[in-house]
Amino acid sequence: MIRIENVSLSHRDMPILHDITLSLEKGGITALVGPNGAGKSSLLSLIARLQPLQTGRILVDGLPVGSTPSRLLAQRLAILRQDGAVASRLTVRELIGFGRFPHHQGRAGAADIALVEAALEQFELQALAERFIDTLSGGQRQRALVAMTFCQGTDYMLLDEPLNNLDMFHARQLMRSLRSIVDERQRTAIVVLHDINQAAAHADRIVALRDGKVIADGTPNEVLTEDNLELVFGYRMQIMQIAGRPLVLQHL
Ligand SMILES: Nc1ncnc2c1ncn2[C@@H]1O[C@H](COP(=O)(O)OP(=O)(O)O)[C@@H](O)[C@H]1O
Ligand SMILES: [Mg+2]
Repeated sequence: MIRIENVSLSHRDMPILHDITLSLEKGGITALVGPNGAGKSSLLSLIARLQPLQTGRILVDGLPVGSTPSRLLAQRLAILRQDGAVASRLTVRELIGFGRFPHHQGRAGAADIALVEAALEQFELQALAERFIDTLSGGQRQRALVAMTFCQGTDYMLLDEPLNNLDMFHARQLMRSLRSIVDERQRTAIVVLHDINQAAAHADRIVALRDGKVIADGTPNEVLTEDNLELVFGYRMQIMQIAGRPLVLQHL
């Protein structure tokens, strides 16, 4: 479980997160949704210690994020950043291999190599394995980055807008891959999604943020109500039900 307790954050007196207390249970797909600037990336970056905690505390399976050695944390939790800049003169296979670094510290063994091949297969990247990152399309690069995050082999995967740059086919496929990874390998995915309907269709739980506060938290049917969506996104939208899940007509 990831336990977030009384976490606030500000940058130069500008409040970003307000006293967030939240438990993210192990297993399943949790979607973080909310408008630009809500604090979604800030929250993920605090969980992954990409920036220091200012107040409160965060525990990952009981380990305090503030004081756990980086290598140990990297064996539990992997993050795909929203602005994931990568060295361009790497092949896709090499990039994915970097996911194993916290486990072998530079000396990949047979098991690490097998896991890289499995990640190439899981994300259907075999045909691109020898391509340099800077020759890929935005969507292909995004898939390679998700595969690297997966290859780290951690219980928790934090993915900040992994559907960026993906076409409909690959967005759907990525969400289905996450579902099978979560169900078959008992992983936990915490995913920032802009497409509310991807969250509606694929998440077990949705946490909606606005202005650094949790506005709603629960199943898709609990969170995606007309009132909640208006509170979070600032306008009213119609909601339909398809196969027991909400479908938000957010574009009308
Ligand atoms: N390093 C920073 N310095 C100053 N302000 C920041 C910094 N990082 C984020 N912010 C601000 O914090 C707020 C939340 O940002 P962010 O967490 O990226 O939101 P989201 O991911 O939900 O779009 C925004 O208003 C953003 O401008
Ligand atoms: Mg963000």
